[in-house]
Amino acid sequence: MIKNDLFLQALAGSTLVRPPVWIMRQAGRYLPEYMKIREQYDFFTRCRTPELASEISVQPIRRFHMDAAILFSDILVVPQAMNIAVEMKPGVGPVVPDPIRSLKDLQNVVVPDVQKELDYVFQAVQMTKEKLQDEVPLIGFAGSPWTIFCYVVQGKGSKNFEKAKAFCFAKPQEAHQLLEKITQTTILYLQEKIKAGVDAVQLFDSWGGLLSPQDYALFSWPYLQKIISALAPAAPVILFAKGAWYALEEMTSSGVSALGLDWTLTAQKARQYCGEKITLQGNMDPSRLYSSPAVIQKEVREMIRSFGPSHYIVNLGHGILPDIPLAHVEAFVEAVKTYTE
Ligand code: CP3
Repeated sequence: MIKNDLFLQALAGSTLVRPPVWIMRQAGRYLPEYMKIREQYDFFTRCRTPELASEISVQPIRRFHMDAAILFSDILVVPQAMNIAVEMKPGVGPVVPDPIRSLKDLQNVVVPDVQKELDYVFQAVQMTKEKLQDEVPLIGFAGSPWTIFCYVVQGKGSKNFEKAKAFCFAKPQEAHQLLEKITQTTILYLQEKIKAGVDAVQLFDSWGGLLSPQDYALFSWPYLQKIISALAPAAPVILFAKGAWYALEEMTSSGVSALGLDWTLTAQKARQYCGEKITLQGNMDPSRLYSSPAVIQKEVREMIRSFGPSHYIVNLGHGILPDIPLAHVEAFVEAVKTYTE
């Protein structure tokens, strides 16, 4: 039994006196103890070494006592397992040296034996669970097929991912084949992650909002729906689709336990789209953590008043920025933990 299961209760829709809190990208670069490990091992070595990945996953819990841990890994380990090389270039970000742009490229992309190719992730899950000693639940994650597609077709991070879009619109049949392969791999991957011990999964559709509502319905949503249907009810699923507010209403009845929100909509608007019953997660602007601790605490309390305290999980509207002072993170978490109506 998990001692602090507030996060799972929120996902189940229980009535709560305060919401749970965790932070997207909480295992990462704003933490000095992470930066120490980072000096010694390159990025994918950190991901591929269960001892390191599990250590990094529990670092934020030891320091701040969030209500859930998230496994340290990356969404791009999935394309790596599919025979697509991905490198992490310091100061640049992820790079795909041979992007997928044609039917010929597509033929080399496989739906792998995930148990074999991604065994290091499942070992990291088991090791993280051991280190957590049932204090808090562990979240596993994957990128959405569309967001993975953006990287493997574009070849690197981008503001608009024009080449990824060009592939969709010029070669829709090939694009759908690639999205389907990513979807099949992601389903197998998340099923194994759940078997290995994660208590919930989050799907990151970080670039969903780059698509028009019509194209979202063609190139992102059907694949997410397939994944959600294959996983729920084996584990609760959270879907975070940045910028895709126009799809929230449809997402509400897809089988997800919670919907993640970015900072571009109010609680009132979100409830208008999603109704009262589904759990919402978010949505403070990550840059707001530059405010003073006193202001952060005030804003957190206002956010809980407008969204919660039930059917709500406190988080940022996207990942935490690398140069946020530790005292500001502490203020954010503390404001939630000491919340009273
Ligand atoms: O949330 C957590 O704490 C778990 C760890 C986690 C990482 N990446 C570690 C990481 C998670 C959940 C991710 C997901 C991820 N990776 C996403 C979706 C979430 C989002 O932020 O939109 C995306 C788009 C990626 C791809 C990726 N990985 C990019 C674009 C970059 C480079 C940009 C950057 O932030 O540095 C990464 C590298 C990465 N993944 C780092 C970490 C801690 C930083 C690299 C480093 O420390 O050397």
